[in-house]
Amino acid sequence: MLLQHQTWQEVEAYLGRSKAIILPIGSTEQHGPNGLIGTDAICAEVIAKGVGEAAGAMVGPTIGVGIAVHHMGFAGSMTVRPLTLIAIIYDYVLSLARHGFRRFFFINGHGGNIATVQAAFSEIYAEFEGAFSARRDDELRCRLANWWDGKAMHDLAKEMFGDNEGSHATASEVAVTQYVLPDSIKQAVLDPPRAPSGRFHGPADYRRRFPDGRIGSNPGLATPEYGRRLFDASISELAKTFLAFVGEN
Ligand code: NI
Repeated sequence: MLLQHQTWQEVEAYLGRSKAIILPIGSTEQHGPNGLIGTDAICAEVIAKGVGEAAGAMVGPTIGVGIAVHHMGFAGSMTVRPLTLIAIIYDYVLSLARHGFRRFFFINGHGGNIATVQAAFSEIYAEFEGAFSARRDDELRCRLANWWDGKAMHDLAKEMFGDNEGSHATASEVAVTQYVLPDSIKQAVLDPPRAPSGRFHGPADYRRRFPDGRIGSNPGLATPEYGRRLFDASISELAKTFLAFVGEN
């Protein structure tokens, strides 16, 4: 159930039975020679839609550009600064809160967003809970979940890709995009097949150490079938996490 595909009357009726909304958040950044620039936003969005269907929950618009400063050495990458992302999340949540939404479940597709999203939650709580203005006892809760979270997802990626999963342009995320966008599957020579691992500092250093953009991964092992299994497992895990979040006292 997508917010954008409802009428205002339908949203009002939904709010009569649920105060929860799912918000996908991703990034627009290079994902190596065979990964799409939109990988993180695409994965978050399609999985959030699936969780919304599984849990009968409303899904809001995707935040498609995140914190990707270190990817800016590669063409097509976009970033917002942390203060901008905090402002976007703050405005999204508080505008939805005005209508009565009180449980905000963010499904994230990019590790680089996590610290900033948590900072945004702190800003929202400081405002909503009345730290600096009139006292209020109304409550609003936010939660962040990554689509790859949990032991089941970790075990599945391990079984499929072993040590070739990597940490950026992972075999798993490329597989999920291949499953949901079969017309956009890219063929590329990956040399070496498994990219180097390690630390970096800033866009120039990143590109010097990881010249094709990947870190530690061999996304040449990705297939649409692996992607289907990861997609299904992620939806099943996140639907449980979402329902537990909504059901908390
Ligand atoms: Ni990614």
